[in-house]
Amino acid sequence: MKERLQAIREEVAKQIEACADMDKLNEIRVAFLGKKGELTNIMKSLKDATAEERPKLGMMINEARAEIEEKLSEKKDAFAKKLREEKMKAETIDVTLPAKKPMMGHRHPNSIALEEVERIFIGMGYEVVEGPEVEYDYYNFEALNIPANHPAKDEQDTFYITGDILLRTQTSPVQVREMEKGKLPIRMIAPGRVFRSDEVDATHSPSFHQIEGLVIDKNITFADLKGTLAEFAKELFGEQTRVKFRPHHFPFTEPSAEVDVTCFKCGGSGCRFCKGSGWIEILGCGMVHPKVLKMSGIDPDEYSGFAFGVGLERIALLKYEIDDMRLLYENDERFLKQF
Ligand code: DAH
Repeated sequence: MKERLQAIREEVAKQIEACADMDKLNEIRVAFLGKKGELTNIMKSLKDATAEERPKLGMMINEARAEIEEKLSEKKDAFAKKLREEKMKAETIDVTLPAKKPMMGHRHPNSIALEEVERIFIGMGYEVVEGPEVEYDYYNFEALNIPANHPAKDEQDTFYITGDILLRTQTSPVQVREMEKGKLPIRMIAPGRVFRSDEVDATHSPSFHQIEGLVIDKNITFADLKGTLAEFAKELFGEQTRVKFRPHHFPFTEPSAEVDVTCFKCGGSGCRFCKGSGWIEILGCGMVHPKVLKMSGIDPDEYSGFAFGVGLERIALLKYEIDDMRLLYENDERFLKQF
C-alpha cells in the first residue's frame, strides 16, 4: 500500500504540473479525490490491513490527501493569477496617448447677430413676437397698403402657394397681426424667415431673415424713431457710430426713410468696406401710415407709431465682416468655427 500511495502522489504531482487549464484540473481532482477516486479506493481497502498497521496507513493516506489538495489549490491560484494578468494586459489604457477632442457645435453668425439685436431692444422694453412664414396675401400686402396691381408687389418676387396664400416676403405682416390684437401700446420686434424668388449670389438668397420693429402709442413722433435707431446703431456698432436718415418710400410708412450708419471700419472717412462713401445702409423705417393703422382697427387721430425693418444677414455680414452671404447658408464647419 505504501508503494501505491507513493506512486499516486508522484502521478498526481506529474499530472498537475502538466495540467493546462481549469477543466483538466477538476478532472484530476475527481480522478484522485472523488467518490470513486484512487485515494478513496485506498481508504476503502484500509479495512484489510492489520489493526496495528491501520492508524499508520490512515495517517499516510491523510497526508497524501492534504498534499494533493494543496497542490490542486496552488495550481488553481496560479491559473487565476495568470487569467487576471492576461485581462489586465488586454485592458491596458495608454494614458500618454493624446485625448480625442469632443466635437462641439458652433453658434451660427445669424443666431449671434439676432441675440445681439434682441438684447438691445429687450433692454429698451420691447417684446419679441413671431408670426407665420406661410401668410395671407392680405397681411403681406393688402393690410400694409400694398393693393393688387401696386408696383411694390412686383418688386418683391413672391412665392405663391394659392391665389391668396404665399410665403411672406417680409416680416412686416407681423405688425398687422400685432395691431389687430387691439392691445395698446405696442413695443415689439418680430424676427423671422422671409422668402423671395431671387437668384442666389453674394448678396441675395431666396430665403433670408428680417427683424421687424413696431412701436404704437400716443404722441409717438419721428424724433422717437430717430432716437431709438440712433441708440440701436450705437449699441450694435459702437458708441462712436452716427446715423443718417435718407428720405425713401415704403407704402406702409409716411414719411419713410432709409438709415445709414457711419462705417465702423473707417469711422466715416471712406474705405474699401463702405466703398469709399463712409456710410453703410442698414435698414428701412418710417412713421406707420394712417391707412395701415386704420385697417388694423387703430384710430390714427389718437395713436401714432413708427416701424422699421432690418435684414438679419446684413447685420451678420457687416458685424463679422463676411463678404459673401452664401457662406451663411452652406454651414461649412470651417466657416462656422470662426465665430
Ligand atoms: N418690409 C420692408 C422690406 O422688406 C422693410 C421695411 C421698411 C420694414 C420700412 C418696415 C419699414 O417696417 O417701416 O423691404
